[in-house]
Amino acid sequence: MENLPFLLRPQARCPSLPLATAFNSSTQRSGRVVVPIPRRHCRRRSARLAVADEMPRTKGSWSSDEDNAFDWLDQWYPFAPVSDLDPGAPHGKTVLGLTVVAWFDGGGEWRVLDDACPHRLAPLSEGRVDDKGRLQCVYHGWCFDGAGACKFIPQAPTLGPPVHKNSKACVASYPCVVQNKILWFYPRTEPEYKDVLQRKRPPFIPEIDDPSYFTVFGMRDLYYGYDILLENIVDPAHLPYAHKGLVPKSSSVDDPGRYVPDLTRMSPITFNVQLC
Ligand code: FES
Repeated sequence: MENLPFLLRPQARCPSLPLATAFNSSTQRSGRVVVPIPRRHCRRRSARLAVADEMPRTKGSWSSDEDNAFDWLDQWYPFAPVSDLDPGAPHGKTVLGLTVVAWFDGGGEWRVLDDACPHRLAPLSEGRVDDKGRLQCVYHGWCFDGAGACKFIPQAPTLGPPVHKNSKACVASYPCVVQNKILWFYPRTEPEYKDVLQRKRPPFIPEIDDPSYFTVFGMRDLYYGYDILLENIVDPAHLPYAHKGLVPKSSSVDDPGRYVPDLTRMSPITFNVQLC
């Protein structure tokens, strides 16, 4: 399983630290980063990391209560910051092994569907949004609405049966919502999850919507787990080497060849990790 990390991307005047936490979802074509940084703190070279409250709990690990076992498919996952999504085109991504496509429909909403046309399984992310606000498959032109219903099959006779209404012509649709300027989706397509938003919302990160903060979004694929990433965050010894030339440093007086962090130019890094 690959990982979809939330990374802190350094702002030019902020320390080049890989402040990060990870959602353990996966992305084939991109990973995504959210960094709310208090404006008042940035000049002092500090940052506060807002961490979503979902952290993995799996049976047999540190959660012995089966009822509290973490269900990977019962969580909201970030698809992408809306600012990175062109509403005029479909966007494909793989999350938790699911290939999905996000697009902005004619009703003015972001939608997330399976990224496979029900006709010949062509990726819908390779298609286009037509002039009626429908997602059109690039292969034979079948068109789908925001709910995944097929609305048009160009090859079907005009006076023939409405074959586009056949349930096999529909695409599975995932619950999705825009929150904190991020498009989130829920990886279940069964009818009982259609209104999942009413009982469970994505993790809310108030700093992103707080005008006293500015948010830096960035995307990056990391081909390792969130646990490795967190260990990296709390491992400052790697900074002068893995980020050579990017972080403040000074040489040891006693041993000029030895790099030591210049703590006078860096503020403590604080983490706010909420475990469910
Ligand atoms: S594969 Fe999509 S319309 Fe044929």
